[in-house]
Amino acid sequence: MTAVVALVTLSLSGMAQAAGDDPDPGKELVINGDMQMVTRVKAPDNIPGLTNVYSGWLFHDPSTQAMEMDDFDNPGMTGAETGTENWSVADGSEGKSCASCHGDIEKMKGVRTHMPKVNKDGKLWSMEDYINNCRTTRMGAKAWSWNSADMQDMVAAISVQSRGMPMAVATDGAAAKFWKEGEKMYYTRTGMLELSCASCHEQNYGNHIRAEHLSQGQLNGFPTYRLKTAKLVSIHNRLKGCVRDTRAETYKEGTDALRILELYVASRSNGLSVEGVAVRP
Ligand code: HEC
Ligand code: HEC
Repeated sequence: MTAVVALVTLSLSGMAQAAGDDPDPGKELVINGDMQMVTRVKAPDNIPGLTNVYSGWLFHDPSTQAMEMDDFDNPGMTGAETGTENWSVADGSEGKSCASCHGDIEKMKGVRTHMPKVNKDGKLWSMEDYINNCRTTRMGAKAWSWNSADMQDMVAAISVQSRGMPMAVATDGAAAKFWKEGEKMYYTRTGMLELSCASCHEQNYGNHIRAEHLSQGQLNGFPTYRLKTAKLVSIHNRLKGCVRDTRAETYKEGTDALRILELYVASRSNGLSVEGVAVRP
């Protein structure tokens, strides 16, 4: 009830949409004329609050949608290209590049679908953590900062290798305890407005808030290219902004709180095609 009042305060407008309604019926995302993306799929069994999951792509206007349908029109692909070039550039004291060990970047196919995941030491790591671990412990190179162009270009280049594959983040086994924590974060109402992630992205997707069309807040399109800031946005940066919108204090990129939230939110996208690099207003 409080959330409803709060959302009205935030000038939410438009017809209330019953969960499960398709935001853009019949619209299909096909990239470069031949890569068919799954943008709507039955919700995973462990996400009882949703009937279907919808890609963020379906919530945007036709001109924004169109940019993602052709790599030449997608401004985010420039970052992915730079990342692909850097893949074979040696860096650090060991004189190695990513390619020295991993071979062609195409070998990274499938990696995005499973991120974040628990590493062999039982720690939950995002893709950025795996990259920095290789840089610092295997290349003798400096860690890249989370939101830097170097890091997000590389994340984009690796993500693009999985385009069209279904998101398949593990939520069981070693990931189970992190996932449970993330689920709790997602549904906990915080701040003066007493909003949870679910208040907006589960109960009100399809509605408008200020000038924005509320999506389900899925992660299958990351890193996303934001037209507003004209750069690639990391998952943690986006989550940080959304947490900040609900309360005074938020978490920094690369903290365990955001890794945990990322795991849970990414699992809500399970079944949707990886789209990274998606285009957002
Ligand atoms: C000296 C060899 C070496 C170099 C150089 C190296 N890596 Fe790695 N990388 C590894 C090994 C070994 C693993 C762990 C593989 C495993 O446990 O499955 C790994 C794992 C990864 C993973 C996680 C893959 C997964 O599916 O879990 C990513 C992502 C990655 N590396 C990216 C990079 C990037 C980007 C660079 C260049 C900036 C790089 N690596 C440089 C050896 C290397
Ligand atoms: C007051 C409403 C509101 C709340 C609460 C909120 N968000 Fe958002 N969120 C938005 C708006 C508006 C956008 C931009 C439009 C969109 O993509 O939905 C957005 C975008 C996102 C996106 C990007 C989706 C994409 O496809 O680009 C993610 C991910 C996200 N939110 C996750 C979260 C999480 C996790 C929480 C809880 C910590 C949360 N949001 C809380 C309003 C909210």
